[in-house]
Amino acid sequence: MIKINSNYRKLQSSYLFVEIAKRVAAFQEANPATDIIKLGIGDVTRALPPSIVSAFEAGVQEMGQDESFRGYGPEQGYAFLREAIAENDYQSRSAQISADEIFVSDGAKCDTGNILEIFDHDIRIAVPDPVYPVYVDTSVMSGRTGTMQDGRYQGLTYLEGSPENGYVPMPTPDLRADIIFLCFPNNPTGAVATREQLAAWVDHAHKTGAIILFDAAYEAFIRNPDIPHSIYEIPGARDVAIEFRSFSKTAGFTGTRCAFTVVPSSLQGVDAEGNTVPLWELWNRRQSTKFNGVSYPVQKAAAAVYTEAGQREVRAQIDYYLENAAIIRSTLQDAGYSVTGGTDSPYIWTTVAGDSWDFFDRLLNEAGVVCTPGTGFGKAGSGCVRISAFNHREKVEEAMRRIRPVLG
Ligand code: MLT
Repeated sequence: MIKINSNYRKLQSSYLFVEIAKRVAAFQEANPATDIIKLGIGDVTRALPPSIVSAFEAGVQEMGQDESFRGYGPEQGYAFLREAIAENDYQSRSAQISADEIFVSDGAKCDTGNILEIFDHDIRIAVPDPVYPVYVDTSVMSGRTGTMQDGRYQGLTYLEGSPENGYVPMPTPDLRADIIFLCFPNNPTGAVATREQLAAWVDHAHKTGAIILFDAAYEAFIRNPDIPHSIYEIPGARDVAIEFRSFSKTAGFTGTRCAFTVVPSSLQGVDAEGNTVPLWELWNRRQSTKFNGVSYPVQKAAAAVYTEAGQREVRAQIDYYLENAAIIRSTLQDAGYSVTGGTDSPYIWTTVAGDSWDFFDRLLNEAGVVCTPGTGFGKAGSGCVRISAFNHREKVEEAMRRIRPVLG
């Protein structure tokens, strides 16, 4: 029989959101009359904004005529989109990123997992805890870890978030990692990192030679003007960081699929012979070989995000979710719970009494509301849950009415 990649056998039996979906489906089958309200997975619920739909439609129309039809596009993404990203997301914030350092893709989830391919097998990886599970699971799949012991994988370094550090773990002098995953605004805790905190990480990476993999998928939720949207707003970050962004939460693209990864041309690694190699070259080679780009109409739709109307519309959508987040935050706070997130993030993170899966089950059984148990995000998440603001206003309000008695 064929030998399998045994690293997969080290993984938890199912991906967090698959396990939640299974429990929800079982509950729904047993309680068909209950109108379950989902504040679990961070999936958008509002329709694509009108100017984005128009651009999408125009792209489809172009594909329907010989004169404007396009076959394979550039694997790195069309120039019109890469230029719009460079100008609006970076240069306008004094972050020196150029269009050719941007790689358009179908998701930040895929890219944060796939990026590990361009590094040596024996790299030391540090991940936050609580953590977006993809960083951990893809490290496991690629054989960079041992087995799980006491809730943590051997061989991974965990950067522990806690109420004491506001869920923003900072580098310690003894930290030795080649790859450091950071995510701000954070999934799952909703915490944001200040300029000084990010500068400390950039400084650490410069001193140790580490590469920061910075997941900024939720940057559009930042409303505090003092919080950086990109790690490249920090001087020196170009030489130590790769950044991941997505249109999923920014513009409602979870089902449409478009994201991008920034690999600055100044980032370098070393090969087995001691030669210096730009990481850009490796990622470009990887994408050209394994990826054929995002469809033309989708890239047209993504580019519309940067038009005046697009900016106005996506901002209004995010404001809507942020207002939901404020409702969730105040419900929890009024019930005496301490919360993180929900101001510059769609996620609200709170400590609950007892086990987080038990709390998840109680919320589901007694209120018909779905949250995400903190344990699913790592050991440091036990005793916490994440509530997502992605839903319609009336659903969020109804969910808060229902959970109030369960909160005690
Ligand atoms: C989440 O709920 O954490 C998100 O849906 C994750 C993702 O975007 O993949």
